[in-house]
Amino acid sequence: MLNTDQQQTVGVVGAGTMGRGIVQLFAAAGHRVHCVDAVPGAARDALDAVGAMFDTLVAKGRMDADAARLARGAMSAHDDLAGLADCTLVIEAIVEDLSVKRTVFGDLERIVPREAILATNTSSLMVSEIAAGCERPERVAGLHFFNPVPLMRVVEVIAGVRTAPDVVARLRTLVASTGHRAIAAADQPGFVVNHAGRGLYTEGLRILEEQVCTHVEIDRVLRLSAGFRMGPFELLDLTGLDVSGRVMEAIYEQFQQEPRFRPSSLVPPRIAAGLHGRKSGEGWYRYQDCEREDAGLPAPAFPDGVSVWIDPEAPDAERLCALAGSHAVGQAEADSVLIVQPWGVDATTAALERGLDAARTGAVDPLPRLDRHRTAMMTAATLPRYRDAAHAMLASGDAGVTMIADSPGFICQRVLAVVVNIAANIAQRGIATVDDLEDAVRLGLGYPDGPLGWGDAIGPARVLTILEGLQRVTGDPRYRPAPWLARRARLGLSLLSPEPARHD
Ligand code: NAI
Repeated sequence: MLNTDQQQTVGVVGAGTMGRGIVQLFAAAGHRVHCVDAVPGAARDALDAVGAMFDTLVAKGRMDADAARLARGAMSAHDDLAGLADCTLVIEAIVEDLSVKRTVFGDLERIVPREAILATNTSSLMVSEIAAGCERPERVAGLHFFNPVPLMRVVEVIAGVRTAPDVVARLRTLVASTGHRAIAAADQPGFVVNHAGRGLYTEGLRILEEQVCTHVEIDRVLRLSAGFRMGPFELLDLTGLDVSGRVMEAIYEQFQQEPRFRPSSLVPPRIAAGLHGRKSGEGWYRYQDCEREDAGLPAPAFPDGVSVWIDPEAPDAERLCALAGSHAVGQAEADSVLIVQPWGVDATTAALERGLDAARTGAVDPLPRLDRHRTAMMTAATLPRYRDAAHAMLASGDAGVTMIADSPGFICQRVLAVVVNIAANIAQRGIATVDDLEDAVRLGLGYPDGPLGWGDAIGPARVLTILEGLQRVTGDPRYRPAPWLARRARLGLSLLSPEPARHD
């Protein structure tokens, strides 16, 4: 329970998807909450829905009946901003339109007490631009919640350029009082979570653009081998390609056409065709007839006469030899498939750099553990009998196999290296502290690890090698390593190590 000093009077403007969740969160935490919507009766409806949610939680034993009664009594509905006159904090969650938000903030300034904080839940507008329309921009900040608000236990607290430090501190305390984790973020495009989440989408789309494999295979490999809860195409279908497509374009433009965020030309035709995802019944997947992923083609029989040579430098040489069984040979023979495990380059580059016969070379991704899922790719010249030998050999255990076309860094290496690199750039730019960044990604994106911790697990030097390989093979500046990452990798430091102080 909050004591009377901690209890605040919170105003929520906008009783839609986000507003309802915010009302529920603060009321359940013991604060008084006033809810306002421009549509008459909408705030009342929202409170009824929140009350019904409390009943459900009590019935499921997830909320105390007394707490639900108190929370219900602490909520009030208004059709006019004048109802917010005694608020110490007002959170705006109305339509995502700068001029409408500025008008509401101007009206609020005339209604709320002088020391009250005004916060916006905007996800794509600049907090500083909303604040610039106010007489006292120092009390304006961003408070960015995630949907569904009560379950997504992270909130970004965004300081606009003129926001006073004590406003950020007060907001962090208030967020903590709800049990959610407050993340301090700079007023930069996508703040932290939406910025850090770019890599999975952009690289997934890039892999598809290059016809490395199908979107179903990309999703499957990233789930099974890397541990993402959902692949990029499943996620795009969930959020809606129309919404995500706009975010991709906006972040690219707001970061002055930074190549790391370059949107994919695969997206606009699909939006135009109405393939928006779950909500339209069809996106990358079809939802009406429950079509789901294909299980992949069965493995071929091991071709007669072929033997298997494993590069002794391959990180999984022993495991691969065991999989090859009686087909394994210590010295490459005239009819051997040549198996390599490169970092950051394609099978073609790996074969040429090692002086191997590209027509017989196949590559197996060393990044994911081989017992979970195996990804293999051939050079542009590999003959079918050697491809079949590699496929049959990899399929001889329990794990599934995905055969992809030649790709620098397969699927997992390039996606994970890009995710880690973007996070390193967020740290470099001071958009969030390392601790806040890691928690924001774990809680806001549901990744199995924070991105810099993930980079440490792969090995900073290895991530650097992958990025350098990607840049070398593709010539694309999107893969250039962030200085934060490159320096720590070269010095043998953890990617989580903060910048040292410049003065005592
Ligand atoms: P929504 O469309 O569900 O709800 C908006 C509500 O605001 C409606 O009830 C509408 O009647 C009301 N409204 C519009 N203009 C108003 C005004 N001038 N005064 C008072 N009420 C007004 O929208 P949603 O999804 O709840 O989004 C609200 C804000 O939160 C937007 O800025 C959005 O970008 C942001 N956001 C949305 C997320 C989401 O997943 N939906 C996630 C994070 C942020």
